[in-house]
Amino acid sequence: MKLFANILLAALMGVTASASFAADEHAAAPAAAAAKPAKPDPAKGDTVFNATPANSQSCASCHNADGNSAIAANPKLAQQHPEYILKQLQDFKSGARKSAIMKPLASALSEEDMRNIAWFVGSKKVKTGFSKDKDTIALGEKIYRGGIGDRQIPACAGCHSPNGAGIPAQYPRLGGQNAEYTVAQLTAFRDNVRTNSLPMTGVAAKLNDREIKAVADYIAGLR
Ligand code: HEC
Ligand code: HEC
Repeated sequence: MKLFANILLAALMGVTASASFAADEHAAAPAAAAAKPAKPDPAKGDTVFNATPANSQSCASCHNADGNSAIAANPKLAQQHPEYILKQLQDFKSGARKSAIMKPLASALSEEDMRNIAWFVGSKKVKTGFSKDKDTIALGEKIYRGGIGDRQIPACAGCHSPNGAGIPAQYPRLGGQNAEYTVAQLTAFRDNVRTNSLPMTGVAAKLNDREIKAVADYIAGLR
């Protein structure tokens, strides 16, 4: 009986260890950056974000001067949690998140630039959009608020909050994001093209194209 209890305990500890490992993976990047706590300087971030480097475009040319990207394929960065922005820039640089566009741009940034930019765009107010497809809005809302229970698709609101503001620092803001960008990301998570988040790979795994479009359109109008 004692032996059995020990085996059970060992198994339980194994589960706990792997669960905390998964959580650590997310905390790792911000924690490592926080080890050298140079206070982020949003004014310097503004300067780098809006400067045009030799041989390259400014961040602002694609994401607008205040991070409210007007081009549908480019994400809005305004009001996003700085820790999330920082993680994405680090992931583009390391290759953990693949993007032919963002890889060279992020690679040219120092860790300090990344932090300054992250706190600059995070300080800007997001300009939210509108849902456009009235035929799918109910489906989008249902997925966002309640998930699809019989297919193990969890409610987005559980991690990204009911109004889409996210939960700092781990769960990014989604509300008002360009739908075209959100569709691309959900599809990339589902198809294992964006592999820098285990939770989102799991969430997106069972969504079909129609559901992805519906929830992305709903999110665009969420505030
Ligand atoms: C040529 C247009 C272009 C330029 C210039 C550009 N970006 Fe991007 N950015 C994109 C696109 C497209 C994506 C989406 C990448 C993908 O496919 O995942 C993106 C994604 C991002 C993301 C991820 C946002 C999220 O919600 O996950 C961040 C952060 C970002 N860019 C910051 C920057 C910064 C900082 C600069 C300047 C150093 C910059 N971008 C320059 C087009 C651009
Ligand atoms: C268990 C928590 C959890 C749930 C539930 C969840 N997400 Fe996420 N989501 C995350 C995390 C964590 C990230 C950040 C990934 C990273 O760090 O790169 C994220 C990122 C995203 C992104 C990328 C944002 C960007 O700017 O690129 C989108 C889009 C997204 N989630 C949509 C959804 C949708 C739609 C649902 C519901 C179908 C959902 N999420 C449910 C945890 C969750």
